[in-house]
Amino acid sequence: MSPPLIRVENLKVHFPVKQGLIWQRQVGWVKAVDGLNFTIQPGETLGLVGESGCGKSTTGRAILQMQRPTAGKVYFEDTELTALQGEPLRQQRQRMQMIFQDPYASLNPRMTVGSLVGEPLAVHQLAQGKEKRDRIYQLLAMVGLQPQYYHRYPHEFSGGQRQRIVIARALAANPDFIIGDEPIAALDVSIQAQVINLLQTLQTELGLTYLFIAHDLSVVRHIADRVAVMYLGKIVELADRVSLYENPLHPYTQSLLSAVPIPDPTLEAKRQRIILTGDVPSPMHPPKGCCFHTRCPFVMPACRQEPGPVFKAVSPGHSVACHLVEQ
Ligand SMILES: Nc1ncnc2c1ncn2[C@@H]1O[C@H](COP(=O)(O)OP(=O)(O)O)[C@@H](O)[C@H]1O
Ligand SMILES: [Mg+2]
Repeated sequence: MSPPLIRVENLKVHFPVKQGLIWQRQVGWVKAVDGLNFTIQPGETLGLVGESGCGKSTTGRAILQMQRPTAGKVYFEDTELTALQGEPLRQQRQRMQMIFQDPYASLNPRMTVGSLVGEPLAVHQLAQGKEKRDRIYQLLAMVGLQPQYYHRYPHEFSGGQRQRIVIARALAANPDFIIGDEPIAALDVSIQAQVINLLQTLQTELGLTYLFIAHDLSVVRHIADRVAVMYLGKIVELADRVSLYENPLHPYTQSLLSAVPIPDPTLEAKRQRIILTGDVPSPMHPPKGCCFHTRCPFVMPACRQEPGPVFKAVSPGHSVACHLVEQ
């Protein structure tokens, strides 16, 4: 196996929680990301899935150093990003891009499509004049947009087309690694598949590596090679796509999966939904022991005790943190 493109070691992001209007007193921490370990191979898509608030976006931002981690290390090939600052970090960042959920908020409404797509070329001084214009036309073609859109403004486009502009802009500086933070969640269902297909085609043609963030397992099923399931700042299960969908081991993964419709009508008729009771606990006061024990249908006394279950491999490429699996 080739060395990973991205390596994340014990990544933590804890936000201080402050109270009081004038003298802001720190009253605790939100452990948004609490000790993640994973790698992403070159050319691979890793799906990162979990309910809203479990720390997915913070993980993405911490990998790119848009949010400095509290602890842990992030490597891009052999370079430790967490040790870089200033110009060396800026140079590495050029090779990584993030695409956000909302294509309406990510584009400056006062800029034309051409200047939006060309902005990274100017920022990183990659091209100017005719060379820059040609590159912008090439990028528009790559994402399936007409060259005559060059002089139009974002408000003239639909959500799907805007997300194509966002993607063209992300590709401008020729990145190796792209984080999609729920990139299709805000789009009409009919448009979602088109954008997924576009991302897959671009991946094959340009040899891109993806971290694809989604809040449910149905979306990443079509795009991810491996899937990491996150709950309250921790990865509870990580496996290749086939193992995860056919043999989910963590009760949380099982419950997420039970919510995904099955295309086969006979299997779909037999699908049992596992409805979790209670709300996601506050990341300020995560449960002791296993972080999932307050909602787990199979909770045992050991699950309430410290330390929680260890995240470990049960078969090659399939890791899980659950006491049920250890027995
Ligand atoms: N800048 C911040 N300051 C304080 N808390 C934050 C900040 N960003 C995120 N959080 C908190 O961290 C947790 C994880 O957030 P986030 O990473 O956005 O989750 P997700 O993307 O999975 O919905 C949430 O409880 C959120 O309120
Ligand atoms: Mg998010």
